[in-house]
Amino acid sequence: MSMSPSAASPPTTIVSGGSRGLGLAVVSRMLDRGDRVATFSRGGSDSLVALADRHPGRLHHARIDAADSVMLCRFVNDTVALFGRVDHCVANAAVATEGVLATMSDDAIDSMLAVNLRGAIVLVRECVRQFLAQPRTPGRNGSVVVVSSVVAGRGSPGLAAYAATKAGLEGFARSLAREVGARGIRVNAVAPGFLATELSASLSDADRGRIVRRTPLGRLGTVEDVVGAIDFLTGPGADFITGQTVTVDGGGAA
Ligand SMILES: NC(=O)c1ccc[n+]([C@@H]2O[C@H](COP(=O)([O-])OP(=O)(O)OC[C@H]3O[C@@H](n4cnc5c(N)ncnc54)[C@H](OP(=O)(O)O)[C@@H]3O)[C@@H](O)[C@H]2O)c1
Repeated sequence: MSMSPSAASPPTTIVSGGSRGLGLAVVSRMLDRGDRVATFSRGGSDSLVALADRHPGRLHHARIDAADSVMLCRFVNDTVALFGRVDHCVANAAVATEGVLATMSDDAIDSMLAVNLRGAIVLVRECVRQFLAQPRTPGRNGSVVVVSSVVAGRGSPGLAAYAATKAGLEGFARSLAREVGARGIRVNAVAPGFLATELSASLSDADRGRIVRRTPLGRLGTVEDVVGAIDFLTGPGADFITGQTVTVDGGGAA
């Protein structure tokens, strides 16, 4: 049986916020498994440059602010022009401003809503439009993973507005899964616990110790722990999984 060249080609994965932390680790894993990867962030990083050198022609990076819808649309179109199609979308970019709500500025709230929620929804919309435009092929109909957080379901003092964006994303993923399931498109969320990245750098040693003590598996999560879940959810082993949130937190720091 002959296949169209685009369906026979390696998968293309879009990852937002690939310059560092979890996004960078996802980019690296997707490249290692053979995908072509398009990612964006406001700044670049030496790690991304090194990955591009190691995987010539398979990594595209653009400097884009996730709050800029026009640029997000352009980014997805550019990715299609470069790699021919899009197979997976990992909406990972986020900002977290910690602080009690009573003193939080409008700017801080707006920025979290614009990047974490609106930016993710617009990026996923553009990817879904592309999935729908591509010929239907078993196992290649498109998948989305949104990166949430355990605070969406559990709550955390000082993270109310951030938690709202993550809870919103999980509701978005569940509803979209129902909307596009008939077209074979899968939509899931991963909810990591605390990870040692720049986003969680403000965590005090005492807080870290407390989280570790309350975690059944006895350590903080690493980005690699979460990458494993995203790799699975965007792979053939998850072909019948949609509308789910996979929690990756070592058993839960209650
Ligand atoms: N770290 C944790 O403990 C933890 C726990 C649960 C969930 N999460 C979630 O995991 C995901 C990754 O977090 P992380 O810890 O890897 O964060 P991180 O180290 O701060 O990295 C965030 C990434 O997103 C990009 N980004 C931030 N704002 C952006 C914007 N306006 N436009 C475009 N790109 C933007 C950053 O690049 P630029 O700054 O250059 O734009 C960077 O590449 C997030 O969704 C986060 O909410 C993290």
